[in-house]
Amino acid sequence: MKLRRWVATAAVAVATVATLNSLPASAGHPYDPTDQSLRNLGLRHNLYVGTAVDMDALADPDDPQYRQIVGDEFSTVTAENVMKWESLEPTRGTYNWGPADELVSFARQHGQRVRGHVLVWHNQLPGWLTSGVADGSISNDELRDLLHKHITDVVRHFRGKIWQWDVVNEAVSDPWDNPPTLHYKGFWAEHLGSGYIADAFRWARAADPQALLFYNDYNIEAFGSGDPANDKTRFVYDMAKDLRSRGVPIDGVGSQGHLGTQYGNYDTLQVAAALKKFTSLGLATAFTEVDVRSQMTDGVQAGESAEINPRLQASAANFSILLQACLSERHCLSFTVWGFTDKHSWVPGTFDNPPEGLATIYDENYQPKRAYNVMRADLIYAGPPYVLPRVAQRPHR
Ligand code: G3I
Repeated sequence: MKLRRWVATAAVAVATVATLNSLPASAGHPYDPTDQSLRNLGLRHNLYVGTAVDMDALADPDDPQYRQIVGDEFSTVTAENVMKWESLEPTRGTYNWGPADELVSFARQHGQRVRGHVLVWHNQLPGWLTSGVADGSISNDELRDLLHKHITDVVRHFRGKIWQWDVVNEAVSDPWDNPPTLHYKGFWAEHLGSGYIADAFRWARAADPQALLFYNDYNIEAFGSGDPANDKTRFVYDMAKDLRSRGVPIDGVGSQGHLGTQYGNYDTLQVAAALKKFTSLGLATAFTEVDVRSQMTDGVQAGESAEINPRLQASAANFSILLQACLSERHCLSFTVWGFTDKHSWVPGTFDNPPEGLATIYDENYQPKRAYNVMRADLIYAGPPYVLPRVAQRPHR
């Protein structure tokens, strides 16, 4: 090689490495061109790649691979259960911070950001709260005060340690509910009316001005008919627009991404269009709970490859659709899977008739599936002009 050409080539190589190394890095983890982990590949796009964490599995000395993979592969973590109200305050007035603090500490040791999940949800509430409301010993006024106190205590406890809070989770009904016209559903709306949503965001902001505050829901990956009476994405969009117009401090909308290979689902452009519509409101987005389950037919359970392979491929394709859409939108800040191994997944315990499973990116023996490699490939083969680094979101005041 002629000297001049060699110098030019070397200069390009140095510039390339310099550019990559100057890309945003999660705490203490600069981009490493030799590291093919999801978290490292995400750094090229300033995209945080995360998982929900089962704290029992993380602490299990007989299951060291779980802990190893959480630390090696992911740059953000979400507590699958231990930040929910029933876990944090099982007895009225007595907090159990231990397991949640443990996750925050693990995250700090591994240079990871934490998504806080969840402040207001109708599930996994403590028995003392739901039974007190049911027997009338807790009035609706007292319930509102208790919610205010809960949000304030929890957000203050973790102040400065949480990147994104799921402030309100799953507040909206589905078209298959009764009545089918979409509406605010569940315990909180029934007792406090829909005004609790704005209150919750304001109380959370007051307790931690730096955390990004998200509304989080499922079945909002893409728009449908556009009619808020039956299009849940449209209903949530209208809700977010209304909250923004009233100055309620909401910073983002989280799309959970619980999909199934037996459904039609969406294509990448449909999902990207939905993300863009949310970000047009000045909001960040994130995929917060992605998994893609399949029906466990007799053939699947018998190990028949002709039954298993199409499901693994369809699952991988759906992970890819959501990830590519997220990559395409600069305000899509993170992509979190709801558990990474079929060994620890909520799916088989919840869907048993017919049985469902195979929902995550590693099998029960921690072997990466096609979905894992498809995610890596999406992160590797993405770049300008269609994929640009994420834009950091600042909390709205
Ligand atoms: O902690 C008890 C344990 O003491 C008991 O022995 C055991 C027996 O069943 O149950 C344990 O509680 C379970 C808990 O997970 C912790 O493992 C509950 O039964 C079980 O219902 C609960 O499921 C969780 C589910 O939320 C509850 O709705 C799943 O792990 C969790 O993945 C799931 O996560 C939700 C998100 O928070 C919100 N979006 C949907 C997502 C999936 O449902």
